[in-house]
Amino acid sequence: MENAIRLEGDVVTLRDFNLEDTDDVLKIAGDDRVTHWLSYDSRDRDGVRAMLEGAVNRAQQVPRNEYYLAIVGPSGDNVIGFCRLGLSGVQAGKLGYALAPSEWGKGYATDAARTLIQFGFRDLGLHRISAAIGPDNAQSIKLVEALGFTREGVLRDHVFTNGAWRDSVLYSLLEPEWTAAEER
Ligand SMILES: CC(C)(COP(=O)(O)OP(=O)(O)OC[C@H]1O[C@@H](n2cnc3c(N)ncnc32)[C@H](O)[C@@H]1OP(=O)(O)O)[C@@H](O)C(=O)NCCC(=O)NCCS
Repeated sequence: MENAIRLEGDVVTLRDFNLEDTDDVLKIAGDDRVTHWLSYDSRDRDGVRAMLEGAVNRAQQVPRNEYYLAIVGPSGDNVIGFCRLGLSGVQAGKLGYALAPSEWGKGYATDAARTLIQFGFRDLGLHRISAAIGPDNAQSIKLVEALGFTREGVLRDHVFTNGAWRDSVLYSLLEPEWTAAEER
């Protein structure tokens, strides 16, 4: 792919998806322990493949307004998670991420999010990055708070998943806050 993205974190690497990632991604987007916290229900192999086809196509759009990237762990080329920065509004991006349950608790998601945020502020010139998180998603809330995000409020009935409308808590991080923390 032309202009393929590859971002090196401290321990993980973020890169563009390809269709060969389908089986790895099925272990994430097909697992209810993960999708319970996402804005969509678990997907089967065909659904995951369609999701990756969409990501590959959108990655080629000019201008590019989505960075839906594979998270590769320190031990090789297996995809252990994904993270996404969707551009919308004025110099603004929406952050999302998920890891395969076998990889939770190792610091990989924090490293991935930090790397994508750095890319958003430094390379894409963003001013604001937000994350909408389920009110009960303690791990994800801990992650954004550790990275310096501020809680803004509740988005009522923000997503419809698993048969019900669900609220999200909106968090945001501004470029000057990020830069000040990095310089400290
Ligand atoms: C949200 C999610 C990605 C967070 O994953 P995670 O593994 O908790 O996050 P990290 O990989 O950054 O790990 C953080 C934990 O690893 C620990 N950690 C950090 N650096 C570490 C390191 N170098 N070595 C070992 N552990 C480390 C942290 O102390 C933290 O542990 P704690 O929760 O006990 O305090 C994961 O729970 C997930 O995929 N959930 C389902 C999808 C989801 O909710 N997505 C977000 C929707 S808003």
